[in-house]
Amino acid sequence: MEIGNPNKKRIKLMELIMKKYIIGNLKMHLLTIAERERYLDWMEKGMKGKKFNDAEIILCPPYVHLEAFSQRKNKKLKLGAQNLFQELKGSFTGEVSAGMIKAVGCEYVIIGHSERRKYFGETSALANQKIKVALKAGLNPIYCFGETRAERDGGFIKDVITNQILTAVEGISPMNLEKIIFAYEPVWAVGTDVIPKVNEILEVRILWKKILMGKFNAKTIGRTSLLYGGSVKSKWAKEVCIDPEMDGVLVGRESLVPDEFLKIAEIINNNQ
Ligand code: PGA
Repeated sequence: MEIGNPNKKRIKLMELIMKKYIIGNLKMHLLTIAERERYLDWMEKGMKGKKFNDAEIILCPPYVHLEAFSQRKNKKLKLGAQNLFQELKGSFTGEVSAGMIKAVGCEYVIIGHSERRKYFGETSALANQKIKVALKAGLNPIYCFGETRAERDGGFIKDVITNQILTAVEGISPMNLEKIIFAYEPVWAVGTDVIPKVNEILEVRILWKKILMGKFNAKTIGRTSLLYGGSVKSKWAKEVCIDPEMDGVLVGRESLVPDEFLKIAEIINNNQ
């Protein structure tokens, strides 16, 4: 670093203070208003007195609960949606737009989750369109990618992940890349209680960086986050996040239990 170059100093500082992300994907749960309120009460109580100086805590409930969550969110708790439609508005019965999500208080949106790919045939090309509308509306996309067991065992992991990442970032400017939070979610680890080894996650982190290096400079990539997701539990937070130096976690089932979710957040925030 050149002494006296304020710009370089600023960049260095930004890299140092990069926040960790602890994201809860509540999926299609919290079936009643009563259940939702109980959950929010429990989460609020759990957060009291806790400081998450180095972590951003984000909850992604079903669309119908977004507004209620928004009213309860605070400085420590941010809000995201689980999906959006690839057009900004129009005659698209049953769909929800980026603008609507933003209007009810969301700052984030999950895109390309493996369950969307599996049950709704969503592709990385569609994710690219969704990423673009999300960015246009001022939302931060949380882009999920990852291989299936068969793809890993068949030796295709590199091709699969390269394709998923390059397709998703097609036409994205460096400034916008930094707003995307990438989440490596091996499909075989989602909902299975099986997690990859530290070195397997680390390999994907290196691969992710290498893929992006073909299109963006090191500074831009240094300011872009990569999380791990798939069967995250507090007892594994160190193995899946801290040891492979990931920038946080995307939590499914355990985010339905506020105490456990906050425990994961504390471990990662305190880097222990
Ligand atoms: P899980 O889900 O933590 O329940 O495995 C993760 C996810 O789907 O993001």
